Amino acid sequence: MRRPERSEIHNNSGMRGETNVSDNEKAARSDGPNGASAGPPRSVAVVGMGYVGLPTALAFHEAGFEVLGLDVSPTRLAAIRDGDVDLLAEDHLRLGVALDDQARFRLTDDPEVLALADAVLVCVPTPVDHHRVPLLQPLQAACQAVIDHARPGQVIVLTSTSYPGTTRDLLIEPLEAHSLRVGHDVHVAFAPERIDPANARFPQEQVPRVVGGATPACTTAARDLLAAITRKLHTVGSPETAELVKLLENTFRAVNIALANEFAEVCAPLGLDPAEVVEAAATKPYGFMPFYPGPGVGGHCIPVDPHYLLWHGRAAGLQLPVVEAAMTGIAMRPARVVSQVAERLSSDGLGVAGSSVLLVGVAYKPGVRDVRATAPSATASAPWTPPPTTWWSCAPATQRSTTPCSARHAGCSTTPTGRPRRRTAR
Ligand SMILES: NC(=O)c1ccc[n+]([C@@H]2O[C@H](COP(=O)([O-])OP(=O)(O)OC[C@H]3O[C@@H](n4cnc5c(N)ncnc54)[C@H](O)[C@@H]3O)[C@@H](O)[C@H]2O)c1
Repeated sequence: MRRPERSEIHNNSGMRGETNVSDNEKAARSDGPNGASAGPPRSVAVVGMGYVGLPTALAFHEAGFEVLGLDVSPTRLAAIRDGDVDLLAEDHLRLGVALDDQARFRLTDDPEVLALADAVLVCVPTPVDHHRVPLLQPLQAACQAVIDHARPGQVIVLTSTSYPGTTRDLLIEPLEAHSLRVGHDVHVAFAPERIDPANARFPQEQVPRVVGGATPACTTAARDLLAAITRKLHTVGSPETAELVKLLENTFRAVNIALANEFAEVCAPLGLDPAEVVEAAATKPYGFMPFYPGPGVGGHCIPVDPHYLLWHGRAAGLQLPVVEAAMTGIAMRPARVVSQVAERLSSDGLGVAGSSVLLVGVAYKPGVRDVRATAPSATASAPWTPPPTTWWSCAPATQRSTTPCSARHAGCSTTPTGRPRRRTAR
């Protein structure tokens, strides 16, 4: 039997599968017995107007929706009003248009606006604390505000990356406790965000979205909402599946980055270029995807998201040694870079003490100002661990070396000495 093309796998029932939105009928969804919605949503509230929320809000505005952009940070709202934000060039144009359209684009820190919206998207941060434990307060606060202002007919979509069960814990069950029947009075789904800031090759509308609703009607409602800003949608059977999809995507990257870093360690003593090895391996047209070694990872996703999986795994009594090892390797990478710098300095006869090191490129990638959890910031604060070498001092040059001075100047040490002080690299 002929396998159907992807675009043929239409799914308008809210069940699993891929929907090519250009072919999607976008018909009014079947509402619950309460007739929860009179028609498709026309107004959208975006909760959290950051790297994800702002482009999402602009896409909905361009699609003709009335947009309410809610953020707790007056600084962030002011920056948006000033246009002083990281956005793709096209989104900067969209922002200019939106800011001129006071009738359909409103920025506010007042959660009361949530009650005005037909649809609500939650895009708040999901960081980890210093112990790499999920810091759920922003998400809990945002969801509580959504629940407090929820009304029949709303479509509520959580997009923030989080542990499997988040949508159920923070939205579905509390809404039910507020006597709003999910799948009837309100529709709730999880649709992980895949925005890649500064990546003009893959603007958000071209990247397929995954959607998993609390019920088939919820999946359909969320899919029809997101169809306004996304060309292709893939529906899955539950919010938990959609939550785990996002964790798989970013854990996959973390594990492969850690592996690439290990290969770089193998290459170093052999004098091989790890990039040459990866590029050659990438000529294999199947079963391989190139990842490159680097000084670390940064931003809101790779250093963070796998810890939501690990945290969930611990609570469920699961061991995830591959993920643990990858995240440990990633966390240690900046310290490894510092020790490599120290080794390089010492091979030039210099010590770490008294040397200044210039870190070029502080954000985690070009084109963004986001310095959260970046490798350079971790490198700058990484304690330096002396390499397992013996240090000698060479008196004439008043320098230290990892090898004894063969010239044997008067004053050269004949016994190991001068272990550099532990210090913070700058
Ligand atoms: N940044 C990315 O590249 C990216 C990509 C895909 C997914 N994500 C995920 O999307 C989510 C949002 O990430 P982000 O990078 O946009 O975060 P961000 O920090 O850039 O923006 C979040 C915004 O939410 C606001 N906020 C915090 N608590 C709030 C509340 N209770 N009510 C209203 N506003 C609140 C903050 O002030 C901030 O402006 C995270 O879960 C992240 O993992 C991020």
